[in-house]
Amino acid sequence: MPISIVLPVTDRIGTSVENKKTYESVKVWSVALQARNSSPQSYITRRSRERRIDKRMQYVEANGTRIPAIGLGAWDLRGRICSRIVEQALRQGYRHVDTAEMYENEREVGEGLRASGVKRSDVFITTKIWPTHFAPRDLERSTKDSLVRLRLSDVDLLLLHWPNPRIPLSETIGALCKMKKTGFTRHIGVSNFTVPLLTEALALSTEPLITNQIEWHPYRDQSEIVAACRKRGIAVTAYSPIARGKAATDKVLSTIGMAHGKTAGQVSLRFLVQEGAVVIPRTSKVERLAENFAIFDFALTKGEMADIRKLGAAQHSVL
Ligand SMILES: NC(=O)c1ccc[n+]([C@@H]2O[C@H](COP(=O)([O-])OP(=O)(O)OC[C@H]3O[C@@H](n4cnc5c(N)ncnc54)[C@H](OP(=O)(O)O)[C@@H]3O)[C@@H](O)[C@H]2O)c1
Repeated sequence: MPISIVLPVTDRIGTSVENKKTYESVKVWSVALQARNSSPQSYITRRSRERRIDKRMQYVEANGTRIPAIGLGAWDLRGRICSRIVEQALRQGYRHVDTAEMYENEREVGEGLRASGVKRSDVFITTKIWPTHFAPRDLERSTKDSLVRLRLSDVDLLLLHWPNPRIPLSETIGALCKMKKTGFTRHIGVSNFTVPLLTEALALSTEPLITNQIEWHPYRDQSEIVAACRKRGIAVTAYSPIARGKAATDKVLSTIGMAHGKTAGQVSLRFLVQEGAVVIPRTSKVERLAENFAIFDFALTKGEMADIRKLGAAQHSVL
């Protein structure tokens, strides 16, 4: 199944010929609003609030599911800062949070989720299993421990964090599929998988893989793995999407941003979203949450996209 970017009607703001072309393949989606067990007044209030949020929301479809196109990256966010940022992000309209057992903050992510007051079912939560826990029993134990820390009965997406050549992939993929079948996760996927590894994982998996999470920003050309994922209906989730802050001071991105009234960081995120990616920028600062989220109300032209792609020739990793 091909991947499609799903935009609400209100986000189709491209007016130039180039922008219209950019959106030619974009499928329109209007999110159904649900109001259950409400008084007429609270129904209207809630409905208009949800509308405000939904207007800014965009999704990437992969193998039959929809992933919010922007999520909050949670690596390196600790303690109170982590729970507060998660809470604020969700209050501001984010509907996707990316954590991992390795980040040692699943407890705080869960706290932030509950403090936000946003319904659990409205938020897409991803966690990841660390490679030393890829033997089937360890993987199951790890998944359950993550759920205990998050205080959730399931996550939306469970990923293998990095490949581990020491443990046969067949065993690990089998265990990962079991986590889906037993209901501990709604979806499964991988992270940092190359084309050959992804091909192997797909051949072994009885369940669809919905994403490959990889380092992707303007300084990394990932066209080969992106094309391989797209061909198989797998979404690409771009981690370090502002190159750990480096893209926010880039001259090329700043100049492009000026033409749109946007910052270089927003241009970096918009570039990836226009390439079809899910982006998971991290910030520890509440004031930057809104900036990073405001990337669905403008579009880069073909020429601007081409100029940004040229930066990828550097093949510079920020890890
Ligand atoms: N699967 C994997 O192996 C893997 C590896 C790495 C990362 N990830 C995931 O991807 C997420 C994002 O990647 P990342 O944390 O490496 O890097 P990133 O999101 O590209 O960059 C984060 C850095 O950029 C700064 N920043 C954020 N917004 C900004 C803005 N608008 N203007 C200027 N600076 C800004 C942040 O500083 P402030 O805090 O000061 O705002 C922080 O230092 C991680 O948190 C994690 O969830 C996954």
